[in-house]
Amino acid sequence: MNSPVLIRDTAGLLPVALSGERLADLQAYVLRNRFLPVPPSEDNFVGDGDYLAIGTEFLGHFIELGGLRAHEKVLDVGCGIGRMAVPLTQFLDQAKARYVGFDPASAGIQWCTRNISSVYPNFRFAHLDVANSLYNPEGYIRGNEVALPFASGAFDFAIMTSVITHLPADEIGPYFQEIARLLGKGGRLFVSAFVMVQDRNPDAKPRIDFKRAGEGPAWFADEKEPMMAVAFDDGFIESALQAAGFELAVKRLGHWRGGSNSLHYQDFFVALKTNAEVT
Ligand SMILES: C[S@@+](CC[C@H](N)C(=O)[O-])C[C@H]1O[C@@H](n2cnc3c(N)ncnc32)[C@H](O)[C@@H]1O
Repeated sequence: MNSPVLIRDTAGLLPVALSGERLADLQAYVLRNRFLPVPPSEDNFVGDGDYLAIGTEFLGHFIELGGLRAHEKVLDVGCGIGRMAVPLTQFLDQAKARYVGFDPASAGIQWCTRNISSVYPNFRFAHLDVANSLYNPEGYIRGNEVALPFASGAFDFAIMTSVITHLPADEIGPYFQEIARLLGKGGRLFVSAFVMVQDRNPDAKPRIDFKRAGEGPAWFADEKEPMMAVAFDDGFIESALQAAGFELAVKRLGHWRGGSNSLHYQDFFVALKTNAEVT
């Protein structure tokens, strides 16, 4: 499936708060800050790799690709154990900005509340008992019926990093709809994903071997534990964003598929809430 959505460049579309050397300085400062909380590796359930380095890399993507600004209200959907939140504490303005993260994994929420909210009271974390066969199999809220207790337009920026890579296809559209409701006009949604592009470099050696899962748009890396890693047909995410009332601002392919010199691993989308009529 080809993308029906025009891909625009962010230049001129989204305001960039920091770039170049100033952004690199902020990232270096975050990485040097030994007072920042980092969970013990045995408690970190959000993936391998350096917790602080990955979060700090994403801070740069949020600012440069997503146009995140220091005074904005941020919603982190599936915040895990605060990997994105910790570096954000060093950018978001303590007096003006607000951050809310929620996740079905209660251990992560407890850690974040103890270690982040205690020092940064404008960062709040909440447990949402949404079912996910990998992360919260007994959850009582169905993944395609999530409704968050916030007013429409309450947020400027929403984050979904490494989250739809663990969701079934039928949960993506309803989630994007709910996030579109929560974002004000000009709000942005930053999503990371795995996308099965068709014109792949034949010599590339993907780091994950996805297999198509039945008739739908999803591909699984592990049929026994399908939510371990989920990819989608190219165009599926764009269509779901568009149906929810977003305009696609950025689509950047990552190097997980091999044969690429991309600077990031997963594929990235930044979608803009335009308040245009949803078709
Ligand atoms: C790989 S972790 C990524 C966590 C975090 N976004 C990060 O990048 O560090 C995937 C997260 O998605 C959460 N998750 C799973 N199903 C979810 C759902 N339906 N809604 C929100 N979060 C979900 C998991 O509990 C887990 O914390």
